[in-house]
Amino acid sequence: MAINVLLLGSGGREHALAWKLAQSKHLDQLFIAPGNPGTAACGTNVNLNVNDFESIRDFVWTQNIQMVVVGPEEPLVNGIWDFFKADPVLASIPVIGPSQAGAQLEGSKAFSKAFMSRHNIPTARYAEFGAHELEAAKAWIAQMPPPYVLKADGLAAGKGVIITSDQDEAFKNLNAMLNGSAFGKAGQRLVIESFLKGIEVSMFVLTDGSSYIILPEAKDYKRIGNGDTGLNTGGMGAVSPVPFVDDTFTQKVKTQIIEPVLKGLKSESIAYQGFLFIGLMNCNGDPYVIEFNCRMGDPETEVVIPRIESDLLDVFIALSKTALHTVALKVTPRSAISLVMVSGGYPESYLTGKAITIDYTATDMLLFHAGTTIQDQQLLTRGGRVFALTAFGDTLTEAQKKVYSHSVGVQYEGKYQRSDIGDDLLQYA
Ligand code: AMP
Ligand code: GLY
Repeated sequence: MAINVLLLGSGGREHALAWKLAQSKHLDQLFIAPGNPGTAACGTNVNLNVNDFESIRDFVWTQNIQMVVVGPEEPLVNGIWDFFKADPVLASIPVIGPSQAGAQLEGSKAFSKAFMSRHNIPTARYAEFGAHELEAAKAWIAQMPPPYVLKADGLAAGKGVIITSDQDEAFKNLNAMLNGSAFGKAGQRLVIESFLKGIEVSMFVLTDGSSYIILPEAKDYKRIGNGDTGLNTGGMGAVSPVPFVDDTFTQKVKTQIIEPVLKGLKSESIAYQGFLFIGLMNCNGDPYVIEFNCRMGDPETEVVIPRIESDLLDVFIALSKTALHTVALKVTPRSAISLVMVSGGYPESYLTGKAITIDYTATDMLLFHAGTTIQDQQLLTRGGRVFALTAFGDTLTEAQKKVYSHSVGVQYEGKYQRSDIGDDLLQYA
C-alpha cells in the first residue's frame, strides 16, 4: 500500500530527504512544508509553519497523511511528537522524530551532559551554571586549563558555543551569556566544559526505541573560511565516508555511546523513534561526545542520504513498526562530497534576491536547494546558505575534483564557497 508523507522543513537537508523519499516504491504523495524550489520538484510544497501544530494537524487530516517526517529540531523540541500522540485521531500516525523529552538531548546542553554523566557516556568534563551564578562560573574557569568551552544551554541556531584560550575573554562571554545579551534566554543557563583535542566526525543513528541502524558517517566543515578559520556557520560542506572511521572506531561508538544512550532513554522512559545525530571527537582513536542532535545534520544529510541505496520509506515504515532490526541498510562505498554555496557576507549580514543561473552538463550531480526562492519564474537567492552541490567519486579526490569543476556552473552575485572541503581527510584516505 502506498502512503502519503508530510516532510517538515525547508533547507538542503529537506531537499535531500524529499529527493530520496520521492524514489520510494511505497510513496503515493509527498508534501513538503514549507519546502523550497528544490523540493517542489520532488512533491508538493505546502505553506505551513513547522511549529504551527494545529495547522499541521488539519493538513494531515484533510490530505490523509500517513507519516510525518520531521527535518529540523525546533518542532521536535517544541513537542510535535507528543502533540500527535496526545490527539486521539493522530496518535496512530507515525512521526519520525523523538518525543519532546528525547529532543532535550539537543534542546538542552545541561540535560544532555547530565544524561551522559548518568549513563557513563564518554564526553568532556563539565559544570553547569545559571543566571545568578556568575562568580561560581568564573571560579570554575579559573581552576581549569584553557581553552575554555562555553555552551549556551538552549537552542541557539548552532551558534551557542564559544571557545577561547583567553581567560578575560571567557569571563566577558560568560557575563554576556548569563545576563542574556549574548544568546537571549538560551544562554542564561550554560555549560562550561573542558576542551577535547582531536578530529571531529558525525555519526547518525536511526532508532525505533529498541533496535537501531547506523547510517553513513560524515564530516562537516563548520567555519566560513578555508583551513577551518573565521566564524561558525550552519555548515560549509560535508564528506562521507570519513576515512578514519573504521570498524574498531565504529565498534567503540556502538558499545560506549549508542547502546548506553538507547538503554538510558529506555530506563528513563523517554520515547525516541527517529534520528540521533552524534557529534564526536576522535581523541587518539577514542570517541567522545561533543553534542547530540535530535535530527539529521545539514549539510551532512546531503552526503549521507545519497549514499543510501535502500528505499528510505521502507526503513521509516520498519521504524514505525518497531522492526528496525529487520532492516539491512544498503550503502554505496563510493565517496560523496557536498559543497555549500553561500551568499557573500554570510554568516554575518548578506544580500538576498540575487538572480541565479544554473549551467552544468553533468547528470550525476545533485544540486540541493537550501536558500532559494522563485519570483516571476526567476530563481533567486533567499538565504545565507543557497545550495549544497553533491558529487560522487570512486575516491574522495575524484569526488572533490567533480564538485569543484561543476560548481562554476552555478552562479549568482556574491557567491562564496570554501575551496578546501575534504582536503584534511586526504591524509587518511
Ligand atoms: P556544538 O554546537 O556543541 O557542536 O559545538 C560547536 C563546535 O565547537 C563543535 O563542532 C566543535 O568543533 C567545537 N566544540 C564543542 N565542544 C568542544 C569541546 N569540548 N572541545 C573541543 N571543541 C569543541
Ligand atoms: N551541520 C551541523 C548541524 O546540522 O548541526
